[in-house]
Amino acid sequence: MTDAIRRHDPLVKGFASDNYAGVHPEILQAIALANGGHQTAYGDDVYTEALQEIFKRHFGPTAEAWPMFNGTGANVVALRSMTAHWEAVVCAESAHIHTDEGGAPERSAGLKLLPVATPDGKLTPELIDRQAWGFGDEHRAQPRVVSITQTTELGTLYTPEEIRAICDHAHDLGMVVHLDGARATNAAAALDVPLRAFTTDVGVDVLSFGGTKAGLMFGEAIVVLNPDAVRGLRYLRKSAMQLASKMRFVSAQFEALLAGDLWLRNARNANAMARRLAEAVRDVPGVEIPRPVQANAVFAILPGDVTERLQKRFRFYTWNEATGEVRWMTAFDTTEADVDAFAAAVAQEVGTA
Ligand SMILES: Cc1ncc(COP(=O)(O)O)c(C=O)c1O
Repeated sequence: MTDAIRRHDPLVKGFASDNYAGVHPEILQAIALANGGHQTAYGDDVYTEALQEIFKRHFGPTAEAWPMFNGTGANVVALRSMTAHWEAVVCAESAHIHTDEGGAPERSAGLKLLPVATPDGKLTPELIDRQAWGFGDEHRAQPRVVSITQTTELGTLYTPEEIRAICDHAHDLGMVVHLDGARATNAAAALDVPLRAFTTDVGVDVLSFGGTKAGLMFGEAIVVLNPDAVRGLRYLRKSAMQLASKMRFVSAQFEALLAGDLWLRNARNANAMARRLAEAVRDVPGVEIPRPVQANAVFAILPGDVTERLQKRFRFYTWNEATGEVRWMTAFDTTEADVDAFAAAVAQEVGTA
């Protein structure tokens, strides 16, 4: 018996964010299985120990996983561990670390970000060079890390070859590469390759691996692929307030996600639902889909006041107030019926625009 009350309608879904989704039932089951009895706190538990093997299976024998509470924390701690106090991080102007982390890299890690404008959220060796200069110049924060996001904040996808070119270029410059993989599982599903194909195998040094958007209640992990690229992670995680005392519950979730194919099932569903949505609305008169739909994000520009009227019926965000571009995200739990109902609402609101 419980006094808990369900305060929402579990059948209502929107297209605002993959973080609006709940927890996959198999993850909840894993949390329940990890419950009971006592386990050593702060990561010295059997679930966190088992997790190391699972991450090695996906990312190769050198991989070392560090469970964290959230993505901002994973990014900040990863980047802090990869830089000395005088060093800087080159990233896309649209990168989550630059636009959506409340300045945490600057405020809590003292990091200098060197952002680069991109057309599609993706860096290239040429774009990196716009900020990767001034090595040895004491007046310039020293470029040390290239941070890329896969899939990007604009819903786009790097091929493994594109990431290899970035890593080769960064390494030639004496820099190292961080990959913000909040949606790494969506990328692997979209590319139809293993997770290591666009990380370990092409030279990424460190990644922030996303669990929350993939179906966890909470939890992300820093995955170190090149141990020479980081320093002091153990201490930085604690001082950044990201060391979970009951870590077994973060690790048990990751085990449920990664030991079998749950990660892939979830990501494939989210991606397929985004494709379905884009196809359903693409030909609605006045609706523009300005960006390629490569994973689980659909960007759209809608005519007239359709956005405002649609937002009264479904949750989603206006991405760019200036252009009116909106973002629709699908999640592991988005169904065909959810997409079809939303697409019908788009067509209906456009019809009355
Ligand atoms: C690209 C990217 N990185 C990282 C994160 C993780 O952020 P949070 O601190 O909300 O877990 C997000 C979440 O929206 C994201 O989209």
